[in-house]
Amino acid sequence: MTERKSFGLTAELKASLLAKMQGQAKDNKAQNAQPERALERVIDPSLVSFSSLPAYTQLEVQKAVAKKLNLTDPYYQCHEGLSQNLAVINGQTYLNFSCYDYLGLNGDQRIAAAINLAVQKYGSSASASRLTAGERPPHRALEEGLAHLYGVEDCLCFVSGHATNVSTIECLFGPQDAIFYDVRSHNSLVLGAKASGAARFAYPNNDMVALRRLLLEHRDSFKRILLVTEGLFGMDGCICDLPGLIALKKEFGCFLMVDEAHSIGTLGARGAGVADYFGLSTKEVDIWMGTLSKTFCGCGGYIAGTSVLIELLKYEAPGFVYSVGMAPMLASASKTALDIMCSEPWRVQKLQENSQTALKLAQSLGLDTGQAQGYAVIPIMLGDSLTCVLAAKLLREAGILVLPIIYPGVEEGKARLRFFISALHTKEQLTHAFETTAQIVPKARQLAAQFA
Ligand SMILES: Cc1ncc(COP(=O)(O)O)c(C=O)c1O
Repeated sequence: MTERKSFGLTAELKASLLAKMQGQAKDNKAQNAQPERALERVIDPSLVSFSSLPAYTQLEVQKAVAKKLNLTDPYYQCHEGLSQNLAVINGQTYLNFSCYDYLGLNGDQRIAAAINLAVQKYGSSASASRLTAGERPPHRALEEGLAHLYGVEDCLCFVSGHATNVSTIECLFGPQDAIFYDVRSHNSLVLGAKASGAARFAYPNNDMVALRRLLLEHRDSFKRILLVTEGLFGMDGCICDLPGLIALKKEFGCFLMVDEAHSIGTLGARGAGVADYFGLSTKEVDIWMGTLSKTFCGCGGYIAGTSVLIELLKYEAPGFVYSVGMAPMLASASKTALDIMCSEPWRVQKLQENSQTALKLAQSLGLDTGQAQGYAVIPIMLGDSLTCVLAAKLLREAGILVLPIIYPGVEEGKARLRFFISALHTKEQLTHAFETTAQIVPKARQLAAQFA
């Protein structure tokens, strides 16, 4: 009798299938057993708690010290209403040096009108990435305006200044490349360099001899090289050595990127930035970057350069492609601010005049202004963090708002009060602010010494 075939299978096939199924059953059992084993795992509670992160522990220590010294937190103060040369906090009016509205345009009625018009036409959001459905006329109008200001082929605006740097550097450079950046470069530039996977070399501030030495040593080990600097250093108020950087870029075959967050609107006769200041062609720099949150009273960042660069970023930069388009009303606000800057050159002149006045005043009062050159940012160098925080507190009590910049914003021992100067400050306001500062700094030092 021939062997009965169930479902037409031979005995051998049946046996092999049975073996497989049994094996699978064992596997399934093993898988099912996993949750039981997971339950037995001993979990360290600190690994699932944010409060055990070292950064949080450090914050707690700082808060405890501040409480002991009876210091209120100088950060996250809520300004009520428009903050220009004056600001109101908790109903009290302060002489304000804490905002970077350099040309005094925030709140300008022409900008408000442009915003209203844009909201009526386009609503409050672009509602999608520009790549998909978020493109609106104000985007291109702003980009064309900025490209025209720079005299370059094209420009692209991102929703955040910080993201502009991270995304652009990360998109353009990779592990075979190297990035040489000024040690005082903004966090977003350094993070972009890290994200790119390129090798990183920090050179001492504005030190072209040191940068050249680094390039001589390392240039040939890498494919593409990017040199990175700020135009006007935001913490120090000093200007980059653009001619020196251009010379090195040419000698070693590099790209050059300049972050103009603090130099656009503040440097040069037209306020057109650091190339305007030095009278150099903007074509000498490969990547112009700037923010829209300072001189241009909006929010976001831009890259200006060749149309190839812009097209590349438009389709490849993650912070542009995978992020919503800038709110059209903000693009309109910044475009209007840009137009006003160009049509009212007195604002740039007034800002520069005020900044020079502030620098001379501070120096004549014996205050240490570090490397400031008298353009929009005037630091008063105080050294230790405690003196700096105490000085800011005493100034606030005297009705002057200026923020203390301490570690990790700047190196340990390099704490400073950072004064942002605006075209709206009057000579009297500047005189009062720096005279008061000169009186308060020795008191802050004395107090800090008591706590040391
Ligand atoms: C030099 C520099 N680059 C980039 C940024 C980031 O710009 P945003 O604050 O507009 O995101 C800042 C912010 O202040 C900055 O100072």
